[in-house]
Amino acid sequence: MNSASTFKYGHFDDATREYVITRPDTPLPWLNYLGQDEFFGLCTNTAGGYSFWKDAKLRRLTRYRYNNVPYDLGGRYFYVNDGGEVWNPGWKPVKAKGVKYECRHGLGYTRIVGERDGLEVETLFFVPPGENLEVWKVTVRNKSAQRKTPKLFSYQEFCFFEALNDMTNYQRTYSIGEVEVEGSAIYHKTEFRERRNHYTLFACTRPIAGFDTSRDAFVGIHEGLHEAKVPFAGQATNSVAFGWNPIGSHQIDLDLAPGAEESFAFVLAYVEQGDAPKFDAPFVMNKSVGRAIVEKYSAPGAVDAALASLKAYWDALLGNFQVDCPNEHAQRMANTWNQYQCMATFNMSRSASMYETGIGRGMGFRDSNQDLLGFVHMIPSRARERILDIAATQLSDGTCYHQYQPLTKKGNADIGGDFYDDHLWLVLSTCAYIKESGDTSILQAPCAYADKAYENVITDTLLDHLETSIAYTIKKRGPNGLPLIGHADWNDCLNLNCFSTEPNESFQTAGDVRDSKAESVMIAGLFLYAAREMAGLYEHLDRNSDAARMRGHYAEMLDTVERVTWDGAWYTRAYAADGSVVGSHTNTEGKIFIESQGWCVLGGAGANNGRARQAMESVHRHLYTKNGVVLQQPAYSTYDKALGEVTSYPPGVKENAGIFSHNNTWIHLAWCQLGEGDRALEYYLSICPSAKQDQIDTYRGEPYVYAQMIAGKDAPCFGEAKNNWLTGTAAWTFVVVSQGLLGIKPDYAGLRIDPCIPKDWPGFKVTRRFRGDTFEITVSNPQHVSKGIKAVRVDGKDIDPTQAIRPAGDGRTHRVEVVLGE
Ligand code: GLC
Ligand code: GLC
Repeated sequence: MNSASTFKYGHFDDATREYVITRPDTPLPWLNYLGQDEFFGLCTNTAGGYSFWKDAKLRRLTRYRYNNVPYDLGGRYFYVNDGGEVWNPGWKPVKAKGVKYECRHGLGYTRIVGERDGLEVETLFFVPPGENLEVWKVTVRNKSAQRKTPKLFSYQEFCFFEALNDMTNYQRTYSIGEVEVEGSAIYHKTEFRERRNHYTLFACTRPIAGFDTSRDAFVGIHEGLHEAKVPFAGQATNSVAFGWNPIGSHQIDLDLAPGAEESFAFVLAYVEQGDAPKFDAPFVMNKSVGRAIVEKYSAPGAVDAALASLKAYWDALLGNFQVDCPNEHAQRMANTWNQYQCMATFNMSRSASMYETGIGRGMGFRDSNQDLLGFVHMIPSRARERILDIAATQLSDGTCYHQYQPLTKKGNADIGGDFYDDHLWLVLSTCAYIKESGDTSILQAPCAYADKAYENVITDTLLDHLETSIAYTIKKRGPNGLPLIGHADWNDCLNLNCFSTEPNESFQTAGDVRDSKAESVMIAGLFLYAAREMAGLYEHLDRNSDAARMRGHYAEMLDTVERVTWDGAWYTRAYAADGSVVGSHTNTEGKIFIESQGWCVLGGAGANNGRARQAMESVHRHLYTKNGVVLQQPAYSTYDKALGEVTSYPPGVKENAGIFSHNNTWIHLAWCQLGEGDRALEYYLSICPSAKQDQIDTYRGEPYVYAQMIAGKDAPCFGEAKNNWLTGTAAWTFVVVSQGLLGIKPDYAGLRIDPCIPKDWPGFKVTRRFRGDTFEITVSNPQHVSKGIKAVRVDGKDIDPTQAIRPAGDGRTHRVEVVLGE
């Protein structure tokens, strides 16, 4: 492992599971997430970001201005005034010269250390498990030979909870801000007098020398955060905000002998009042809940204990899957960062990142179902709840709300439904959950359709939703017998029913899908996969006639796919509303697309006639690059209203021939299915962020998480990553590594082991917790093959290699030895 090797902006520390950033001026802000349950924060390598409870749109606690200049401004700031010199440990916003800096993004925490002129200030930000608050631990060390009396000023800006209103409705918001200050605690209580039963607490666990709650007093009117008045003056004004913009700032005066240090903490909490009376006196809030929180974290050792419980939390989660293999990138991503990113997508869906403002998209139906594939092995119980929440946003006719709000769990009516792939992903997530947990009872869980949620007695079950999903695709088919596409399939930008010539409308909602005839080959491939999953599920349930029925649907769709969609060297992509083909050699642009190759092959098309391999070789010839597989070729050069948004992007980005990492993973899995381990790893590494550190000024994104998109070969910035963090790539790459390459596949009966690795790998080891048992799996590859199992031994006994390894259910560790070969 060369985790020690240092690249321009930093390096991995695999032992501590941290990415260490050694200079603050990274090519873009590099983000981390705080929080694991219901309270979350975004935190960049210069302490930028914001916090929210459950829903970044409806319960935003602190402010952040997106797309600012500089990009990342506003966050958890500390200003140090050391003898009149003002600087920040995280460099921003003052950006003082000569600050020695290190940021360590770890699992659920970020630690930033700044040092200047013999004074070191260490800040650590995290959310303790089970809590609705952030802890900011600060340690100030005098490393100089002189006594130092620095002043420290905390700073963050409160958000009025409803983020969109907060950033648009100033005629109201400038007049509503209210705070209270009690001791070292600042209470942000805007709208508490009316319908809100919650407030934000920002408190210090140590006595303070002053405070500010008015932004105008602290920063000024014409000043920027880098020249904020109070820290430069070295004196808080004890301002009490009335309207305008409330902030929280504490002044801490320190007196440190040479070599001395002092530690204390801040708590930023979301507090619900519960049944406690709201007021102690007119205009005086009942602060009992808040006081108890401050007291709890003021106790000696409380903060360190909370941090220890965070570490234990992540060790337990990641301990469900750990690998030791010859490729350092695959190993560190699988062991740490990829699983970590999967949890971020579970928590955030596509709502809040540096590219998602937290007010737009809520939880996506298809996105959240796919995200589940990446985290179900860590927290099956929450996967269960998530599946039922998602399913409840399906309508009884089969279509689904494309997005829903996490706080209300209600479908988002603005974007609506009619994306005709959505419902099928529910089959994949449910089957993955049952294979992992063995819990078939979820199928009988009551689950109303969104349009029947008002009914008193819920008679529909999750299994009904799955049947409805399959039936919907069968019903919604076009002239070729292929599934209709609706507004779009997985590719949100292939809008075959939109025909928009009006720049003021959304591609995704414009156009009438009723009576439309446009068909999707990708949905056909996905249907094959889903129907086969349903057949397998019914077999497991001993419902053989239902299994046979599903196999019948499968066979019929397979026949259609092979009859209609083979273009000679690959599968076509779609059939437009007028019946013309999309993704064929007969097109001048967009001749070959990635999605239908991936899904047709994964669905089992081309398996017996050589087409699967041929399709994949075409992908290699026409779409593969050293930075990943581009979405289609040639890129579209002009807007075509018959195809929609896909043709709107400049060539080489997003859905117009960008490298959309998410769909690359389907190709990785397809190579694994074909037994091509060398290809699979080569493709895997082409989009792997850990492998991009030596070209980081081109790549620019965080080297520890997958990007949604990398600019394709048609773009001037080929290889540049965007939309990092919140992407289905996280879940699917984890499926690629754990199930495709390493071949550890959960199945109804138990674990199946069927790796597909590069031939030169001598073997690998995996620790896998599964239904309460722990499997220590050692795979050896003496004949240097990619695929094929010669022998499997469990606890020293040979078993039939075609059988799944059944968990003993004894909660013990079991040794599994697998020998690959012919
Ligand atoms: C975005 C969306 C996802 C979609 C993909 C391709 O990542 O979140 O739902 O499938 O783009 O358009
Ligand atoms: C745009 C993006 C696409 C994303 C969609 C979400 O179409 O290009 O990637 O899925 O918006 O609404």
